[in-house]
Parts: sequence; structure tokens; C-alpha cells
Amino acid sequence: MIRIVTVKLGPRSYPVEIGEKLLNEVGRICRAVSLTGRAAVVSDRKVGDLYGAQVSNALANEGFKVSNHLVNPGEASKSFAVAAALCEDFARHGVDRQSFVVALGGGVVGDLAGFAAAIYYRGVPVVQVPTTIMAQVDSSVGGKTGINLSAGKNLVGAFHQPVAVVADTTTLATLGSREWNEGFAEVIKYGVIREKRLLAELGNGNFEVPELIRQCVAIKASFVEEDERETAGSRALLNFGHTIGHAIEAVAGYGTLLHGEAVALGMVAAAQVSAKRAGLQEEEIQELIRVLKRFDLPTELPDRLSRSQILEKIFVDKKFVNGKIRFVVTPAFGSALLAENITMDDLEFGLSAIAPWPM
Ligand SMILES: NC(=O)c1ccc[n+]([C@@H]2O[C@H](COP(=O)([O-])OP(=O)(O)OC[C@H]3O[C@@H](n4cnc5c(N)ncnc54)[C@H](O)[C@@H]3O)[C@@H](O)[C@H]2O)c1
Ligand SMILES: [Zn+2]
Repeated sequence: MIRIVTVKLGPRSYPVEIGEKLLNEVGRICRAVSLTGRAAVVSDRKVGDLYGAQVSNALANEGFKVSNHLVNPGEASKSFAVAAALCEDFARHGVDRQSFVVALGGGVVGDLAGFAAAIYYRGVPVVQVPTTIMAQVDSSVGGKTGINLSAGKNLVGAFHQPVAVVADTTTLATLGSREWNEGFAEVIKYGVIREKRLLAELGNGNFEVPELIRQCVAIKASFVEEDERETAGSRALLNFGHTIGHAIEAVAGYGTLLHGEAVALGMVAAAQVSAKRAGLQEEEIQELIRVLKRFDLPTELPDRLSRSQILEKIFVDKKFVNGKIRFVVTPAFGSALLAENITMDDLEFGLSAIAPWPM
């Protein structure tokens, strides 16, 4: 059974197909969205070993010429250096303006290959083929692509919507347990900001993965359709837990914590800020912590990272106006809003819940 969610963005609309054994259908789906020319399949070495041949064959069977481009696994590959090497590799393999990129892998490959597709020949189409929970429920949909700077995560990038997303749930079977669990941080995020029911379902294990992915994609699509480039502010609600999470990810050192693990910590801190500034109830914070723990996600900073370093990082990254920043809070699960007046003290208060030790 194939579940399809359409992301409705006028001329940039595209299907997200979710189901088992869809890697074999990648060629057919590329034809169906009118792609022609050469396919440049980008993957990391781990995912490439597991699934590269299957995707290349599926494309070749539909008559596409295929080249393969591999990067090292891990967040460190989201860099200018790797993006540049990838574009050079495209050129060496004759990838031209009629060609398209296939991003086969987790969120790192999706963001990196999507960014390369956005800038190569000033933009060639990209098909996202996500292979992690994280990428299937979140990063492959919505068109944000990019790389990190040492100054912060995703500081360089482009909006580049895919022309199709193919989420093969069979690929999830080879994920390690950490990689499996971290994806649920974003699912929990959707529960907090939009669909409270998800928290209960995750909490009691009452869910079925392909259907859960479809629901998450539908939620993400609705935010993206409303505010494609995050100019109106509503798409920014998807950043719940991310202001603090990104800072933790950077301070810990990219790749030390998986993105979802850092977001889990960021969400607990953001829930505390929400209690202080938006009336979130203590029982709800406890419910969040319970659900995160069910997926073995951290709720306390590892290695006793310092609160002051994290605060410093946020201070450098974010625009404080008169000592205040915009920050996503949840007044009650199932809803979120952008508070304009969150102070350093509020963030410090939030952080003390996940780092209850001296600065
Ligand atoms: N663009 C967006 O809107 C958006 C949204 C959320 C997250 N992100 C980004 O996504 C990234 C995190 O993505 P991720 O968590 O998928 O990390 P990832 O891409 O690093 O994948 C995690 C690990 O799993 C391995 N892997 C991937 N698929 C596998 C499979 N099927 N079987 C076995 N191993 C597999 C990878 O090789 C890697 O080692 C972060 O950089 C984050 O910033 C972007
Ligand atoms: Zn995220």
C-alpha cells in the first residue's frame, strides 16, 4: 500500500510517496514527475552500501543514466568543503543542467545534496529519498536545504523544494537503535505543537510506522503550505525545541549528539520556558519527559555540558532586541506560538531543568 501526501505549493507542488519497497519504484516515480536526463545519486557511504545499487538499478531500468556520489556519514559532511567536492564530482561525471539529483539517505544527505542541487547550474531538480525516521517525517519535506558553519547550524542554505519525495519504510529496518529513536524527537515535536493525540499514541506504543509517517508529513506539509519561506512566522513554530537544541548540538560538537537527541533536550528546556512564560502545566512537562524517555532520548545534558556555553552560543546566534528574543513556546500541548519577549533569564531557567548543576 502506497500512501501519498501532496505538498500543495502551486507550480512547486509535489507528491510524498510513503510505503514498503519503494526504492524499486524510484525510476518510475522520477518518470512520473517528468524528469529526464541523468540522475546523480548522492548518498553517504553507509546508506550507499546498503541501498545505492537498488536505487541505481531502479533508475537504470527506466532508462536513466546514473552516476553515484558518496560522502562520509555524519553531520560533519554538512559543510562547504563537502558541498564543493560534490559539485566538482557532478561536473566530472557529466551531470548537466538537464540532470537531476537523487538524495538517498538521512537528513544530512538530504540537506547537503538538496543544497548542492540548489546551487549546481543555479538549480537542478532534486528527488528526496529519505532513509531515516528523521528524514521521512521531517527533513525531506519542505525544501529547506543547507550546510553548517562553525558559527552555527544551517547558517548557509537555500529553499529548494524537491520534485518528489519517496519514503521507503523498508529501509528503516537497518537503522541502529539510536538513529531509530532520534527521529521520534520530531514526531514528539509535532505532538507538542499541533497534534496532542500523537503524544498519547507514542506514549503507549499504539502506532503503526507508515501511517505515523503519513500523519507527520501531512502536518509538516500544512505548515510549509501556509508559510513556505518562513516569512509569515507560522512555519517558525516547527522550530520548537530547536533554538536551544541547535546550540547544544554545536557546543557538544557536531556529530556528538544526533540532531533528534539535541532537539529532545531543547524541547524539555523549551517546555520549562513555556511553563514560566506561557502557562504550560507541570503535568504536561512530565508527560513530555516520559514520552522522550520511552524512545531513550536524553532529558539531561550528557557530560555535564556547561549552561553558560550554551547560553553564549544562543546569544551569538540569535538577534536579541533589548535583551529579548523570539522563541517558540507551547501554552498547552497541541498548540504553539511565537513569544517575542523571552529573556536570557528565561532561557537560563529552561536550561537549569536539563543541566541542574552549577554553571
Ligand atoms: N531540512 C530540514 O527541514 C531538516 C529538518 C530536520 C532535520 N534536518 C537535518 O537533518 C539532519 C539529521 O538527519 P538524520 O537524523 O537523518 O541524520 P543522518 O543523515 O546523519 O543519519 C543518521 C545515521 O544513520 C545512517 N543511516 C541513514 N539511513 C540508514 C538506514 N536506512 N539504515 C542504516 N543506517 C542509516 C547514516 O549513515 C547516519 O550515520 C541534521 O543535520 C538536521 O539539521 C533538516
Ligand atoms: Zn529538527
